[in-house]
Amino acid sequence: MSTRVSPLHAEDWRAAKPFWIEAFGADDDESPPGPGRHTWRAQDGDETVALGVEREFETWFGGSRVPTAGIAGITVPAEHRGGGHLRPLFAAMLDAATERGAQISGLYPTSTGIYRSLGYAPVAQLDDVAVPTHLLDVRGDAAPVRRAGHDDLPAVAAAYTAWAREHRGPLTRDGISFPDLAKAFTSETTGVTLAESSPGQVSGYAAWDRGKGYGADAVLTVRELVALDRPSLVGLLRALGSFASVTPVTVVRTSTADEWTGLLRSDESRVQWRGTYMVKVLDVAAFSYLSPAPGLSAELPFRWNDQAFVLTASSGRVEVAPTSSASRTLDDTALVQTLFGVADARTLRRLGHLTDDAADDAAWDALAAGPRSAIANYY
Ligand SMILES: CC(C)(COP(=O)(O)OP(=O)(O)OC[C@H]1O[C@@H](n2cnc3c(N)ncnc32)[C@H](O)[C@@H]1OP(=O)(O)O)[C@@H](O)C(=O)NCCC(=O)NCCS
Repeated sequence: MSTRVSPLHAEDWRAAKPFWIEAFGADDDESPPGPGRHTWRAQDGDETVALGVEREFETWFGGSRVPTAGIAGITVPAEHRGGGHLRPLFAAMLDAATERGAQISGLYPTSTGIYRSLGYAPVAQLDDVAVPTHLLDVRGDAAPVRRAGHDDLPAVAAAYTAWAREHRGPLTRDGISFPDLAKAFTSETTGVTLAESSPGQVSGYAAWDRGKGYGADAVLTVRELVALDRPSLVGLLRALGSFASVTPVTVVRTSTADEWTGLLRSDESRVQWRGTYMVKVLDVAAFSYLSPAPGLSAELPFRWNDQAFVLTASSGRVEVAPTSSASRTLDDTALVQTLFGVADARTLRRLGHLTDDAADDAAWDALAAGPRSAIANYY
């Protein structure tokens, strides 16, 4: 077998599209290659043996933007599955993305096992959480709410950014892959409700889709719920809760369900769909986006991918450089989950992702503390 991988141009799209449609049971609406969207094809002779889409994103990482290769679709035609074509496809896609400056890559797998050996590890979940609507009528001080108009879109985007930049993982929703503000924030919505904790200052929003009917089966779908403070969260939840008489169930898409379910009088929330967001580190320099406490001063050698590095933390900054030797060994999962602060050294050791030299475990845990991991876009 000799697999050849090359970018697929818009004019070749027609020939490749049926493979996508059959893989995902999609309608005939899959996007062709275009700005910020790179489609790759692996071939064995003339036959297409794998296809992949890589998108140009940026990820918020505690106030910094990390160039990100978003893998938005992978398929191997049925007759070629199990043929080992994914590895060369990913190598070509990620080499090109790295050349462009990408330091991490993200994806939502149909099955996590597909991407684990390619270096991806889970860092966040995007959940559709179903809750009895009447429970959203929560107590407490509430910020005033109002319906957003078209002119409010920049303020909605600003509220999203204020939320997203305080996390590790959310996309920046600007740049080449997000040319349309309205599409980024109001797609498939009936309305967007704004909270203003001080006059003229948008401090949260709920983008919702009313759905059909008003019987026992009617569902209110909240595409996004962002609140920058508690009164805004209370105000938005109450506005949503006011639908209880017509939509007995509300489904909220969220990566931080604990923040709002914690306000309900009774937690009867149920996850009805879950997207697991996985990330791969393309460049250890991504660790320089961590902002450890200024008091943390440490030199931390580590091995990853048979290479030795030393991470230096000092005055709230981090640098990573190659070094001659190191014994503390991180596998891909340990590297990703440390970077995103989703697993501590003890857990990673217990599961075999981190081996040797435990002397620096506490310093690594301190280094990885900080903004929580979250994601808001499904792609
Ligand atoms: C998923 C898909 C791309 C895998 O292609 P493939 O040629 O069968 O994959 P490979 O044989 O190269 O396997 C790569 C790895 O994925 C694992 N894998 C493959 N299918 C899997 C599945 N359904 N669940 C869990 N792991 C799976 C393999 O065990 C292998 O892991 P390993 O390297 O640890 O041994 C292919 O089955 C497909 O196109 N499916 C339909 C569309 C789809 O689900 N695409 C993925 C979208 S995220």
